[in-house]
Amino acid sequence: MNPTAELAVIGGSGLYALLDGATEHEVETPYGAPSDPVTIAEVGGRRVAFLPRHGRDHRYPPHLIPYRANLWALRSLGVRQVLAPCAVGGLRPELGPGTFVVPDQLIDRTGGRAQTYYDRGAVHVSFADPYCPNGRRTLLAAAAGREIPAVDGGTVVVVEGPRFSTRAESRWFTSIGGTVVNMTGHPEAVLARELALCYSSIALVTDLDAGVAGGHAVTQEEVFRVFGENTDRLRGLLLDAITTLPTERDCACGRALDGIAVPLTLP
Ligand code: ADE
Repeated sequence: MNPTAELAVIGGSGLYALLDGATEHEVETPYGAPSDPVTIAEVGGRRVAFLPRHGRDHRYPPHLIPYRANLWALRSLGVRQVLAPCAVGGLRPELGPGTFVVPDQLIDRTGGRAQTYYDRGAVHVSFADPYCPNGRRTLLAAAAGREIPAVDGGTVVVVEGPRFSTRAESRWFTSIGGTVVNMTGHPEAVLARELALCYSSIALVTDLDAGVAGGHAVTQEEVFRVFGENTDRLRGLLLDAITTLPTERDCACGRALDGIAVPLTLP
């Protein structure tokens, strides 16, 4: 029997496994293989897939992650809802390391990444609200349930990386309305929308970005260390969110392609 899942978690830096007793599946897509084999397990009566965004050995830097293969692979398994934790830098002094943010907006500052499935035809999805409202609500409730403070809303500035930002760039990101900064939020979110998936993110602040008052230069060491210190909190929160995410998709995400002549057969 073909493996199936309805909901997926795409794990970020430092979250390379999530599910106990999972089975592992190699998935091929028209865009190549995803970052890693997908693991699938039942959690609270739901079939859940897990995919480590960078690969379990972190072999893919942010700019080389096979984003299209990752989302396509999950959809081909039957996934329609995606929770996407990630590490971010804080762009405001009050958002120090260890803070969780459930973003509601993003600003794309990447360049050169394949960011669409539709290289022919007229497919222009709405992206005014990049994150699923049900997913966001569920993540916030899961955090509250564990007494983990989480900021409701915020704008992720997504940079190309793999370097961190200069102080001037960082100050500019704050001035244009950025709340946090990372390297993987785009094109993941838009590719999910192009496949009519529900997609929401929970961002863990691992550092204050370089331009934030009194900030020091961000280091890779602190990003990984702080993420590691918070992995247990994040894992618990995600497992709660998995079991409470409404199965009914009454949001607009699933209707993203309605009325559009899609020039591909979606999996
Ligand atoms: N990921 C975690 N911290 C970051 C930062 N300061 N800039 C970009 N990506 C990050």
